[in-house]
Amino acid sequence: MAAATRLMSRLALVTGGGSGIGRAVCQRLASEGASVVVADISQESASETLGRLPGDLRGQGHMAAVVDVSSKESVKKLLTRIQTHYFQPPSLCVNAAGITQDDFLLNMAEDQFDRVLQVNLKGSFLVLQAVAQALVACGAPKGSIVTVGSIVGKVGNIGQANYGASKAGVEGLTRTAAKELSRFGIRCNCVLPGFISTPMTDKVPEKVMSKMKSLVPLGRMGEPAEVADVCAFLVSDDSRYITGASVEVTGGLFMG
Ligand SMILES: NC(=O)c1ccc[n+]([C@@H]2O[C@H](COP(=O)([O-])OP(=O)(O)OC[C@H]3O[C@@H](n4cnc5c(N)ncnc54)[C@H](O)[C@@H]3O)[C@@H](O)[C@H]2O)c1
Repeated sequence: MAAATRLMSRLALVTGGGSGIGRAVCQRLASEGASVVVADISQESASETLGRLPGDLRGQGHMAAVVDVSSKESVKKLLTRIQTHYFQPPSLCVNAAGITQDDFLLNMAEDQFDRVLQVNLKGSFLVLQAVAQALVACGAPKGSIVTVGSIVGKVGNIGQANYGASKAGVEGLTRTAAKELSRFGIRCNCVLPGFISTPMTDKVPEKVMSKMKSLVPLGRMGEPAEVADVCAFLVSDDSRYITGASVEVTGGLFMG
């Protein structure tokens, strides 16, 4: 199917949709015909993404919603709101919500570790579980859930013990979910971005970023749209024989 129409009449939930990679995913999925729920902890940024989405042309109806992915209560409310609005659960989901709270291991406070794990790992679990439960309950024939991990989960990164652990965790979570949910027609995959230009990497000191850039075989940082293109492929039926996979989107950084 042509990329421009392959997600027509599909409903997609994108967490972290208010910024960076999540926003680019919302734009890409909407441009392929999906109705998109832009979910973010920031109402303002979710509404801003919503305002920029193409659509409402092909029977699409997008919405913005506030969610704290680290709260089971909040995720539950989000799924109820979506099902009340659309009379169906999202059959496509991209977990892009994530945070960093960097510090050297020797200095890292317990709450820095806990918060990053709560949002990045537990948040991915809560959303994945809630979407899968809703799909199974309504007898949906298929679903595809993509979680944004990081190459840092594989190779580690100085100052990111909490983040690296959370991103290694989402790969294990995703592979387990892929095994358990295959029989319900639900596929689960990860994308592992390298260094992508977003507000998250804007916080990294220029000295560190220029060193990183020099290590990237393709010689530059990635753009959010380049991660979004892979997410769109993984939620679409073009990847129908792929589950439990982690796809690196790194410009070749740390390819081994
Ligand atoms: N930028 C990179 O280089 C890079 C590399 C690898 C992985 N990633 C991952 O990609 C994802 C998106 O990152 P980004 O660079 O676009 O960052 P970003 O900061 O631009 O966007 C993250 C979004 O998540 C939202 N968010 C934070 N906590 C939340 C919560 N508890 N509930 C709901 N939403 C919440 C934020 O409000 C923000 O809109 C993250 O999971 C990040 O770890 C980014």
